[in-house]
Amino acid sequence: MAAFDLIIKGGTVATAADTFNSDVGIRDGRIAALAQDLGSDAAEIINANGKLILPGGIDSHVHIAQPSGPGIVMADDFASATRSAAFGGNTTVMPFCLQEKGQGLRQALKHYHALAEGQCYVDVSFHMIISDPTSTVLGQELPALVDDGYTSFKVFMTYEGLALADKEMLEVFACARETGAMVLVHAENCDAIRFLTEQLEAAGRTAPKYHATSRPIAVEREATHRAISLAELVDVPITIVHVSNGEAIDQIRWARGRGLKVYAETCPQYLVLTEKDLDGLNMEGAKYVCSPPPRDEESQDACWAGLETGVFDIFSSDHCPFRYDDPAGKLTDKGRTSFRWVPNGIPGVETRLQVLFSEGVAKGRIDINKFVALTSTNHAKMYGLYPRKGTIAIGSDADIAIWDPEHEETISQGLMHGGADYTPYEGLKVKGWPVTTIVRGKAVVRDGELVGEADAGEYLPRERSPYAATQGRS
Ligand code: URP
Ligand code: ZN
Ligand code: ZN
Repeated sequence: MAAFDLIIKGGTVATAADTFNSDVGIRDGRIAALAQDLGSDAAEIINANGKLILPGGIDSHVHIAQPSGPGIVMADDFASATRSAAFGGNTTVMPFCLQEKGQGLRQALKHYHALAEGQCYVDVSFHMIISDPTSTVLGQELPALVDDGYTSFKVFMTYEGLALADKEMLEVFACARETGAMVLVHAENCDAIRFLTEQLEAAGRTAPKYHATSRPIAVEREATHRAISLAELVDVPITIVHVSNGEAIDQIRWARGRGLKVYAETCPQYLVLTEKDLDGLNMEGAKYVCSPPPRDEESQDACWAGLETGVFDIFSSDHCPFRYDDPAGKLTDKGRTSFRWVPNGIPGVETRLQVLFSEGVAKGRIDINKFVALTSTNHAKMYGLYPRKGTIAIGSDADIAIWDPEHEETISQGLMHGGADYTPYEGLKVKGWPVTTIVRGKAVVRDGELVGEADAGEYLPRERSPYAATQGRS
């Protein structure tokens, strides 16, 4: 019997801490050896000369097959989303399981697990979305689920039907504190958005571009500050997701200055898209409708500064795909009447890593170790998967993306492998591309070809995250 199942030979390994030349020996799905020359005693050898060997991407913010309103269908099911993720150099994704109003959490999970079963090319683990925090949900269901490995949940301060009132937010935060779970917060002020939307509609301003006008920076800044203050009252760590601009970043910096555990995430759309993208001819702007909306160049600069200086712990896609040319997607009959009805969200799981690698690493804004931290290691740490996931170390799962750092490409829909019919990054020239994606020692994508099966992915129960430990303040 060979010493290894697979040796990846001759590449440059980069982790969140180090960069070094090493072979990687893999046995039984795990990393078994790292050394300059592991020889050739393996069932399979991959030559990685001139390539980077990185921990597989972990995208901890994706939406797959999530109910999105009457007649609206998300563009991805689990097979298409995880296939697309694998082509984008990801080995784990973390979608949201939505609790619909009146629904029990177990019931929601049962349905969601059934959708994912046998349909995943990469590993998956779910966050819950809490939309109906009844006393049963918070007193019984959620604590039991945290014990079962569902150790994070998201709350919304916006979207009618999802937004929680401040008291409900406090109740969910208190439950997170009790159970040791991580809370993710979507911070936008629901009432302010509703007010502005009504004003815009009354003035006949209904085109997709007014989606951005209806959700200005102040709406996000205020909600970010409020979420932080509510979390401080309860003494619970929180993660503010999809932060889009400098004023929201200032709130996070302010909180950290007070010693609070406030973590933050940003996404590709806030680095390379702007509000102007929503101003397309006819309904084209609908392709870019997401919340918070892309802003302006000053906001992009602020997000880059946040990535460079450590304000952002994680960089996720917020992949939430709807087909554009489809009455069940962006072009619903109602969506044509007002931006208010255009489904929120854009595809991005397959392009997240290339955007940050090219704009960040290749252009010298961040180094490769920070790239790994932002796209993999910190996700594993934040959500209770580390060190099984998120690094290249002896004993860790052999989740690896092999990158060609010199490969130049122009992003286009023709290169994508998901269910959407467009990419918001069409035409963006990038340098650096993931060529091979390996999940627990088995290639899913090899040299740009799909070689894995849709039952390759496993469901991952998670530990409580050390990031979610309270500070014992009150
Ligand atoms: O527009 C977005 N971001 N849609 C996805 C849902 C969310 O708020 O994360
Ligand atoms: Zn959100
Ligand atoms: Zn999202």
